[in-house]
Amino acid sequence: MTYKIAVLPGDFIGPEVVDATIQLLDAVTPRYEISLEYTTLPFGGGALDAFGTPLPDGTKTVCAQSDAVLMGSAGGPVGDHPWNRVPRALRVESGILGIRKHLGVYSNLRPVRVFGGLEGLSPLKSEVARGTDMLIVRELTGGIYFGKPSFNTPDEGVSTDRYTRPEVERIAKVAFEAARARGGRVTSVDKANVLDVSQFWRDVVVGVHESEYSDVTLDHLYVDNAAMQIASNPRQFDVIVTSNLFGDILSDLAAVIPGSLGVLPSASLGDGPGLFEPVHGSAPDIAGKGVANPVGTMLSAAMMLKYGLGQPKAAEAVEGAVQRALGEEPTKDLGGSRGTEAFTEAVVKALSTLASV
Ligand code: NAD
Ligand code: IPM
Ligand code: MN
Repeated sequence: MTYKIAVLPGDFIGPEVVDATIQLLDAVTPRYEISLEYTTLPFGGGALDAFGTPLPDGTKTVCAQSDAVLMGSAGGPVGDHPWNRVPRALRVESGILGIRKHLGVYSNLRPVRVFGGLEGLSPLKSEVARGTDMLIVRELTGGIYFGKPSFNTPDEGVSTDRYTRPEVERIAKVAFEAARARGGRVTSVDKANVLDVSQFWRDVVVGVHESEYSDVTLDHLYVDNAAMQIASNPRQFDVIVTSNLFGDILSDLAAVIPGSLGVLPSASLGDGPGLFEPVHGSAPDIAGKGVANPVGTMLSAAMMLKYGLGQPKAAEAVEGAVQRALGEEPTKDLGGSRGTEAFTEAVVKALSTLASV
């Protein structure tokens, strides 16, 4: 099978982790008679400098016509920087939101797993981290990221958190379906004790549960307690479903459990091509040093093979090889000695051992 893959490397470490991932994909795919045709497209701060927009029309068009989109990460340093001084619509982050909205990928799956034997990489006690296997289902194309009114004047700043019934129903269904295929439990995270939009979220989730998914266990947590529970007892969670903003924050927090933000992957799915990107950003602080951890992007590519292209065996091979290479000697962010290149070589090598087993 031949698939068209749109590739958006982005900025700073984005191209580094994407290059590493493509090396791995090129080693995996022939074993499963898959052929990937890559089209690399301008996106992010580089595109803003070159074309005056972080998300050129051509990039949008090619992405929508592809079988899947593989993204690195985009954006500049968090402090004062030219990319942070342009109007909101031209900000790199608006380009990220723009491609998600254009592809209609409302469902952002962010799995957080601690592979067996790798709990020692966590800054948490091994007995706390061990066996963590949760799926954060983050709503991705609604909520306060997109709500109107939204403006910033010298006297006032306004953003609006807003959800409609169909938006909450469809993400709740994704979470319940995922739970049926996993541990059968969904925790909906909100702030219904304070926010009307959250009470609405909760009521709709309860309604979907009662009418179609009463075989799944549903409970609810307020987001502040959820943050504490994720850090102190992560094994209690199976599927977490939450809004766009809460999911963004909780997933960076959950990255602490496996040991680094650099290892978390994501799949963003809708009705068309999926978008596959690591959870982390462009990490300008470590760019160009050869130390970016490519695992989050590699595991995002595994999700692309599984959910985007329907090639679960190739996905398993990627995961197995990553797991084995991490077990031998991890990357620097995880306290090991390997930089991006050495780690990527090790994953490719691990792949050949796996395939012969
Ligand atoms: P960040 O995720 O880029 O970095 C946070 C910390 O984690 C840094 O110390 C960084 O060095 C480390 N880190 C991140 N990825 C790593 C990896 N693969 N290997 C090793 N260490 C890694 O977050 P930030 O500094 O808040 O944001 C930087 C820029 O990235 C901003 O412009 C932000 O808007 C953007 N961003 C983009 C995306 C995306 O493209 N999807 C996601 C998040 C942030
Ligand atoms: C993420 C990022 C993005 C988000 C930003 C950079 C737009 O933090 O993918 O987690 O908030 O969704
Ligand atoms: Mn984030």
